[in-house]
Amino acid sequence: MNAPFPGSTSFRPSHRLSSIGVSEILKISGLAAEMKREGRDVIILGAGEPDFDTPDFIKDAAERAMRAGATKYTALDGTPELKAAIRTKFKRDNGLDFAQDEITVSAGAKQVLFNAMMATINPGDEVIIPTPFWVTYADIVAIVGGTPVLVPCSEANGFRLSAEDLERAITPRTRWVMLNSPSNPSGAAYAEADYRPILDVLLAHPQVWLMVDDIYEHIVYDGFRFATPAAIEPALRNRTLTINGVSKAYAMTGWRIGYGGGPSALIRAMAVVQSQSTSCPSSVSQAAAIEALNGPQDFVHDCCRSFQERRDLVVGALNRIDGITCRVPEGAFYTFASCAGLMGKTASDGQRIESDTAFTEYLLRTAGVAVVPGSAFGLAPYFRISYATSAVELEDACRRITRAASELS
Ligand SMILES: Cc1ncc(COP(=O)(O)O)c(C=O)c1O
Repeated sequence: MNAPFPGSTSFRPSHRLSSIGVSEILKISGLAAEMKREGRDVIILGAGEPDFDTPDFIKDAAERAMRAGATKYTALDGTPELKAAIRTKFKRDNGLDFAQDEITVSAGAKQVLFNAMMATINPGDEVIIPTPFWVTYADIVAIVGGTPVLVPCSEANGFRLSAEDLERAITPRTRWVMLNSPSNPSGAAYAEADYRPILDVLLAHPQVWLMVDDIYEHIVYDGFRFATPAAIEPALRNRTLTINGVSKAYAMTGWRIGYGGGPSALIRAMAVVQSQSTSCPSSVSQAAAIEALNGPQDFVHDCCRSFQERRDLVVGALNRIDGITCRVPEGAFYTFASCAGLMGKTASDGQRIESDTAFTEYLLRTAGVAVVPGSAFGLAPYFRISYATSAVELEDACRRITRAASELS
């Protein structure tokens, strides 16, 4: 529903905003931050960003670039040097060969997504989004006048889209299918064999394009082999946009650099959108991103090891709680646990836990732990924990959740 805009009686938001609300994640983080300001002891497990700092060698590259005068507008959708580094990355990590005019660079993967939707969606066009999903996908589709088509993906299927459900969801209005692996919020990832049946369905529907969000590519565990659709099925390459970025892998969320590889006609159309919004990504951040992609990759592996330890800590603790079950995620830094076993229980103040939202409110109120309800990502009754925070804090949070759950009757 309409986002609230307090403070002005004459202000009217556009119709475009009418179907977009303030995200549940922001509401909970806001509430938790307010409680913290009031002096309450609150642990916030909602962050969508690594808790590490950007490595120094990347910061040094940014400083050098600044001093050398890289302080002006750059080429519209990325400097030739950064595009070259991205092409090398796609070849090295994914076996994908892109030409220079098949690469775009924006202020984050989010802007790549936005540009692509803005450049292609007409009113009524449908975008298939497997659920649970990163809320931004549906909101961007709605902003540009399209229709998000949410397809529930059960835990029994590893929160992955099944070929049958995809086939059923495709209509003559389907413009894009959105895939995200590893996923925010479920942490589920598609191995090549998981992708195969889905890609076979797409081969039979030549009007449908594929948008793939690989932003968590490097955060995978237990030797999981990351795969990306354009490399698995070259016949789909001329209708696939592969999106990635430096935010998560190199702890560079604030630098705002994301990129995409896809057919040149699409990339050109996206550049037109970008030319009338941000003009170009930040010059200094682009220089830093070159260093991140070309430089030593040990940082990425070290972070991954650390995330895996924390994943094991959280999944282990959650699965020991009566009423909560947690699938072991293959990647990203989120757990997506079911709280189905707690539904219908009652807190000591008489509040009945009827939904995942009620459970997460209860956790915040009584245990001082902020997590996000699964319904905010389109699938209930679940809750998402971001474990991109210290092990000490995670242990404390798990103890609190265990106690709060045990106090329900
Ligand atoms: C699935 C997914 N894609 C993209 C992004 C945004 O990436 P960026 O910081 O590059 O805009 C996020 C951030 O939370 C995400 O979870």
